[in-house]
Amino acid sequence: MTNPEEEPLEGGIVAEVAHMTAEQRAEHDAEVAEAVAPGREIQVEIGETLLELRDVTLKFGGLTALDSVSFGIRRGEILGLIGPNGAGKTTCFNAMTGVYRPTSGKVLLEGKPIGKAARHKITQRGIARTFQNIRLFGEMTALENVVVGADARHKTSVLGALMRLPRHQKEEWEAVERAMALLEFVGIADRAADKAKNLPYGYQRRLEIARALATEPKLLCLDEPAAGFNPAEKEGLMELIRKIRSDGYTVLLIEHDMRLVMGVTDRIVVLEFGKKIADGVPAEIRENPAVIAAYLGVGEDDAA
Ligand SMILES: Nc1ncnc2c1ncn2[C@@H]1O[C@H](COP(=O)(O)OP(=O)(O)OP(=O)(O)O)[C@@H](O)[C@H]1O
Ligand SMILES: [Mg+2]
Repeated sequence: MTNPEEEPLEGGIVAEVAHMTAEQRAEHDAEVAEAVAPGREIQVEIGETLLELRDVTLKFGGLTALDSVSFGIRRGEILGLIGPNGAGKTTCFNAMTGVYRPTSGKVLLEGKPIGKAARHKITQRGIARTFQNIRLFGEMTALENVVVGADARHKTSVLGALMRLPRHQKEEWEAVERAMALLEFVGIADRAADKAKNLPYGYQRRLEIARALATEPKLLCLDEPAAGFNPAEKEGLMELIRKIRSDGYTVLLIEHDMRLVMGVTDRIVVLEFGKKIADGVPAEIRENPAVIAAYLGVGEDDAA
């Protein structure tokens, strides 16, 4: 792509893809991956601890939502976080992203406590998330939603970008180009120009992921990204999560669908009533009596 005047936003990248040979497509995909992760070192090997919860307790009045929870996430890992309704999974995300402060205990990112850092600072330090209940700017286009996501990280002002001030144009164009690449990466570039509220549900879920990736996170936290999906959509999502990891991101996944969790994660942490009851590879978790007991009487899908 060249410059904004010569290249209309809509269609471009998508229309081109349709006419590519397999070889051209592979090259194109590599370019998209590079645009999605500019200059980022791709590390697919599972490495050192990226994020650690150390004895995190979080109380809401008399209710202990997290009770001395400790676990770590290693770089390059896909870690599943599971447990029955109300177990404390979303609260874990909230404690990690500065929505709530732990009553006691610590969250460390790359060995340093996130302490009382504001939410945007935590985003800048590299934790991004999606929400159990989709939160998008419904009146903005899919593309704009992602540009705004990138703005959480960069200096480009959204207002400047949207008003097309001349001095913002280069930065703006780069942000738009990258946002477009992200939409393609998650598989929804064909609807880039549609208002978020008009997108099909599955597209909205993917858009949330693109927007989170726009902040160039070290850790991507997905809160029930497959809720309400049919089996084919779940399959597609598993593929996307694997692709995200092979692009060098670390993923923390909250998900109720056991087949999906078992199929995509390297390791699983299980919470029940705010306590960690198990931590292991999927095969161990599947056989773990405490986990089986926690889920007894709860169907895999109707748990959501
Ligand atoms: N802001 C809040 N104020 C009071 N209680 C809360 C708050 N947020 C969560 N809780 C309570 O904390 C507990 C854990 O909730 P959380 O949302 O983390 O569960 P979850 O594991 O994500 O469940 P689900 O699978 O239903 O999404 C629940 O008992 C919930 O009612
Ligand atoms: Mg939840």
